Amino acid sequence: MHLGWPALRSASRATGPGARPDTPALVDRFGRVATDLRVSLTDRCNLRCTYCMPAEGLDWLPTSALLTAGELSRLIRVAVERLGITEVRFTGGEPLLRRDLTQIVAATTGLRPRPSVSLTTNGIGLARRVDDLVAAGLDRINVSLDTLRPERFRAISRRDRLADVLAGLAAARAAGLSPVKVNAVLLRGVNDDEAGALLDYCLDHGYQLRFIEQMPLDPQHAWDRRSMITAEEILAALRRTHRLTPDPAERGSAPAERWLVDGGPGVVGVIASVTRPFCATCDRTRLTADGQLRTCLFARTETDLRGALRSGASDEELAELWRGAMWGKAAGHGISDSDFTQPQRPMSAIGG
Ligand SMILES: C[S@@+](CC[C@H](N)C(=O)[O-])C[C@H]1O[C@@H](n2cnc3c(N)ncnc32)[C@H](O)[C@@H]1O
Ligand code: SF4
Repeated sequence: MHLGWPALRSASRATGPGARPDTPALVDRFGRVATDLRVSLTDRCNLRCTYCMPAEGLDWLPTSALLTAGELSRLIRVAVERLGITEVRFTGGEPLLRRDLTQIVAATTGLRPRPSVSLTTNGIGLARRVDDLVAAGLDRINVSLDTLRPERFRAISRRDRLADVLAGLAAARAAGLSPVKVNAVLLRGVNDDEAGALLDYCLDHGYQLRFIEQMPLDPQHAWDRRSMITAEEILAALRRTHRLTPDPAERGSAPAERWLVDGGPGVVGVIASVTRPFCATCDRTRLTADGQLRTCLFARTETDLRGALRSGASDEELAELWRGAMWGKAAGHGISDSDFTQPQRPMSAIGG
């Protein structure tokens, strides 16, 4: 199966059939090139979204297992300087729980060639820290917001923090981050009547809303395709109150399909990971908070970069491990295959 790689093939100096081309980049067997690194900074969180974590939380990683700011910065430097990573996104768990987040962002934006640096957060505490993050070079932000109703927010996240999230969003915009993106997951019978209200709120406040189909990455393994709100349903709900036309802007490897709202300039995105998978254009590689490399959210195996790093591997040895792992990346997530099994780590421990 080839997903289209004429440029790479002609540039490759393959040494045999099926051999990895002699290129420093993070290429895989299907012609994809990873340039986007997702880094999870912690598996902990101050919310307990029902679709992501049980009320009591999870068995958190011990501190000794977490990469330090120095270790993270070294691996990110290897990725940028040797492997062609051009975008770095920090996530978790909740990345704002790391006190050294600003330091990690500054180390990343100090790299050359400078990667773009973004953050995915639940927004709690963002209002206090966003100016420092922007001063450290943060380029973009995604804040998760599944409902505008305080009672519902408490039911979904098991915490009464809606006001903090909205304050965080406002602060991100005031700090000059643009676009400020909002991520929403709709759950049947819980908040699936709020698609239009969320869109109106985001349009009014200048935020860019994206709905994400719920994926089978919950620790309870309770995901059920039949109860998932599909992209089709989300679009149908939005069309009851708004006119949507496909955004003519090039989609590239972006996971969100974008729509102009009422002729634009407002847009809304839908990330249909389950019903319209975009694996063929995936350009991601992932690092967990405990230094394990994953080629996909749904990968069944990991590569232990932390072990290599702590045993004294050189930068080039780390880069080679990374290249080898990416060469083994699967063609797709396989959610629709009859033999699909969820990865052991839930979303919060991989980094969403
Ligand atoms: C895992 S969180 C980590 C960052 C931060 N705590 C946050 O909530 O934005 C990243 C995103 O993944 C989403 N998410 C969590 N579990 C999911 C699932 N099973 N399917 C789809 N999205 C999920 C969240 O709603 C959030 O927008
Ligand atoms: S979705 Fe984000 S905010 Fe909600 S529990 Fe998971 S990690 Fe925390």
